[in-house]
Amino acid sequence: FHVDWDLVTAEKAGFDHFMLKEIHEQPKAYRDTMMGRIAEDGKSVTLSKEIGMTTEQIRGISRVHIVACGTAFHAGLVGKTVIESLARIPVETDVASEYRYRSPIITPDTLVIVVSQSGETADTLAALREAKRNGARVLAITNVVGSSVARDADDVITTWAGPEIAVASTKAYSSQLIAFYLLGLYLAQERGTIDQAQVVDIVEAMHRLPEQVESILEQAELFKGVAEAVSKHDNLFFIGRGLDFAVAQEGSLKLKEISYIHSEAYAAGELKHGTLALIEDGIPVIALVTQEDLYEKTLSNIKEVKARGAHVIGIANSGYEDEVAKSVDETFSIPRTLPLLTPALSVVPLQLLSYHASLARGNDVDKPRNLAKSVTVE
Ligand code: G6P
Repeated sequence: FHVDWDLVTAEKAGFDHFMLKEIHEQPKAYRDTMMGRIAEDGKSVTLSKEIGMTTEQIRGISRVHIVACGTAFHAGLVGKTVIESLARIPVETDVASEYRYRSPIITPDTLVIVVSQSGETADTLAALREAKRNGARVLAITNVVGSSVARDADDVITTWAGPEIAVASTKAYSSQLIAFYLLGLYLAQERGTIDQAQVVDIVEAMHRLPEQVESILEQAELFKGVAEAVSKHDNLFFIGRGLDFAVAQEGSLKLKEISYIHSEAYAAGELKHGTLALIEDGIPVIALVTQEDLYEKTLSNIKEVKARGAHVIGIANSGYEDEVAKSVDETFSIPRTLPLLTPALSVVPLQLLSYHASLARGNDVDKPRNLAKSVTVE
């Protein structure tokens, strides 16, 4: 009796690739990242074990800088909106390699948040040290306990996504979003910028996210066809407004990293200021339409690209898909949640899309050319 078995196959737990396995691990990663940080009665969030700042210190924060690289930077873009809208603190975002050299205004009441899956990215680590040299308090969001970033930061929120092997980050990104939601709520509570009913609403909606991701994953095969069609193109666009624009940037990066298809993410309203010139017959445009207050505006941007011959694939909230379907060529719906939380759902179809596009192109999904999981040189 002989069984063909190797460690790598075993670690993939029946999935063809680590990336697909990690996409499917997101519901667990969400639950684990929330665990112990939300009160049993659902009325408050606590990060007092992670963050050693007093209420007075938290109230004294005058600005936040979020600094990271790659996918972690994209999580930071969502983090900016989360912290600004819940805790009402002005937030700037920077890629780490730029932050260090632009002489940012760092004061003792600046909170610098560094985001890093590995906790070993050289640029992020250097930015962290620069921030500390300038007297800022540094909070790290990282997936690796005891990593260099975790050791050097003043405070650490660990994302409990578990080891991420595929170069293209999926569950680490989405767990970083969960960390930002928790952080936004915690800062807001401490600063008194949120009332308890709002906390309860957001926490309830957060608890539903894992199941909602599961329901998207049950339809994972749906994205295969569209990914195969997309894989035949050399250029495409992702568009969205607000948080949809932040997720569009991550979707575009994911596609570039593993399918090698060139794509650009554009703020939907900015298209007409140049990019519209690139829209020609048949070009795929992936439009995120999940921000209900911006919904009409995005639909009108979709009409602009449709009129120039684009093939539009819409990602819409459940309940709105029929309306969106009238303006696009294909629609995928995601379960409805609060607008602030939609990135934690809308990124999933985009991950599946790039996974299948990469496969259709015959690429090495888990180890894309020229890229490394962790970049420890500047
Ligand atoms: C590398 C990886 C990216 C990752 C970035 C930041 O470039 O290829 O996928 O987003 O580093 O990594 P970090 O570990 O700091 O999140």
